Amino acid sequence: MKIAFGCDHAGIKIKEQIIKFVESLGCQVIDCGTFSEQSCDYPDFAFKVADFVSKKTADKGILICGTGIGMSIAANKVKGIRAAVCWNKETAALIAQHNNANIICAGARFASADEICSWIKIFLETKFEERHLKRINKITEIEQK
Ligand code: RB5
Repeated sequence: MKIAFGCDHAGIKIKEQIIKFVESLGCQVIDCGTFSEQSCDYPDFAFKVADFVSKKTADKGILICGTGIGMSIAANKVKGIRAAVCWNKETAALIAQHNNANIICAGARFASADEICSWIKIFLETKFEERHLKRINKITEIEQK
């Protein structure tokens, strides 16, 4: 599986651990930055990751900022993207099962790298439940208006 990864300065401290972890799961990671601790703008990285996923150059995406919220707001502006914030193991599963999320977002200021890695593993391994397709189709309809 090909995974696009992006973070801002709030996520840079846990970036290396997350990328190594995702690679250890057998995934190929496209590193979209950021590449230093210098303050930067999360929408730039949200867009890069969302663009890879929307063009299907990556299967799924991971976005880390302080809260995960700014990244999700920005990534969801890109067609075909369902970027969802999670904050525990249950929500990591639900964003896949119910929302068919294609990007997981998390907040490095509110969770440890180990916690976020465990959520990423769950997200990548959990399947969408087809019974929710009608709702996902309604989201796609809104996007096309
Ligand atoms: C950066 O200070 C912070 O605003 C950003 O990482 C993120 O939490 C935004 O949602």
